[in-house]
Amino acid sequence: MKYRRIKGTNDIFGEEIWYWRYVEETFRNVCESAGIEEIRTPIFEQTELFVRSVGEESDIVQKEMYTFQDKAGRSITLRPEGTAPVVRAFLENSLVDRGFQQRYYYVGPMFRYEKPQSGRLRQFHQVGFEIIGPESPKADFEMIILVDTFLRRLGLTKYKIHLNSIGCPVCRKNYREALKEYYGQVLDNLCDDCKRRYETNILRLLDCKVDHEYALNAPKSVDYLCDSCRAHHKKLKEYLNTFEIEYVEDHTLVRGLDYYTRTVFEVRHEGLGAQNAIAGGGRYDGLFAELGGSSVPALGFAGGIERIILALKAEGIEIPMKNVHLVYIATLGEKAFMDGVQLAGELRKKGLSVDVDIMDRKLSGQLKHASRMGSRYAVIIGDEELEKGIVILRDLETGDQVEIDRDFAADYIAERVSKD
Ligand code: HAM
Repeated sequence: MKYRRIKGTNDIFGEEIWYWRYVEETFRNVCESAGIEEIRTPIFEQTELFVRSVGEESDIVQKEMYTFQDKAGRSITLRPEGTAPVVRAFLENSLVDRGFQQRYYYVGPMFRYEKPQSGRLRQFHQVGFEIIGPESPKADFEMIILVDTFLRRLGLTKYKIHLNSIGCPVCRKNYREALKEYYGQVLDNLCDDCKRRYETNILRLLDCKVDHEYALNAPKSVDYLCDSCRAHHKKLKEYLNTFEIEYVEDHTLVRGLDYYTRTVFEVRHEGLGAQNAIAGGGRYDGLFAELGGSSVPALGFAGGIERIILALKAEGIEIPMKNVHLVYIATLGEKAFMDGVQLAGELRKKGLSVDVDIMDRKLSGQLKHASRMGSRYAVIIGDEELEKGIVILRDLETGDQVEIDRDFAADYIAERVSKD
């Protein structure tokens, strides 16, 4: 094999496509039923956008970005996530003029140079949305409802929503100090990453996989919240409790991106291995100001399509699949081919998926190919059929066949298929 795909990327085809379509279409339906509009931003952006938003000290910026210089010497990065581009687009296109409580959803590829393994890719795909404007915990509540609705609508049940509040820059200052004191006493025992993060990004010590046991007894951010952050968190939990949305309070949840304030959440699926987060998100009330706008509260989430598909498979959920080779029109001779193309057009207009043989094969070869592609029916047209003004419809599953008057062929076949 001369060319191979790049490590950490996938080709998606065959049955797999229907899983993707199912996830994407369900997500679009849930978003649009909630009045969320689609936004599409470029795949690459100025590197600085991600450095400023995701955070200089985050793993993403430190080691996972696909960054390159373009021909004009600008530093460009393939987007590792979708939130910063949406905020940039919002500011750049003056979407603020549409007023607040604006919500945008997106579906598309993201890029992170991570060590590939099951559920962890270098080109992966997210569905996500961002809610721009509301400060109230009503927005956090609505966001979690929509994420839950989306996952339920897919048929998933074996997941848990982990919830935490990491406060605002004011209360986080005190919390950081408490963590410094706590981890300072065990610093020598920590892994090298944690030692470095102790200086640069202490909250991330809480989600270190190696030193996790220290995190369990560490000071909790919820104990250091200022009055307004505490009230916000309390109200959100009240809403969730009233609505009977189950969640787990997880004091070690801090998330890997630096822009979060107050609410953070992650959805973990029990059927996956180490990479069990199928979705995550939270508030980022400081990001607009960080990126040069005025201060605008905002929040959002993203789910990983590959991991959601692994979860669907782990739960054995059946996905609707369409047979795009439903009817195969086999023809013999030029005249029959032209009539076959005509009939294909009539059937396609009625919404059926129809192949016509374009390989100049013998009849037996055409039928063999139709079966191999999974066609349910074959239509056969040759000189004899043309002369008699009929076509033959063969059921490729049973081998039964009928002759149909050519004039009524499209109606007959469409009706027959609709009865399957
Ligand atoms: P994130 O937690 O970095 O958040 O990514 C969201 C989801 O993308 C994860 O829960 C996971 O399912 C999937 N994901 C992340 N990295 C990979 C990977 N290497 N391979 C496969 N799947 C992956 C964000 O990206 C935030 N922008 C979410 C957000 C939106 N926060 C506010 N608004």
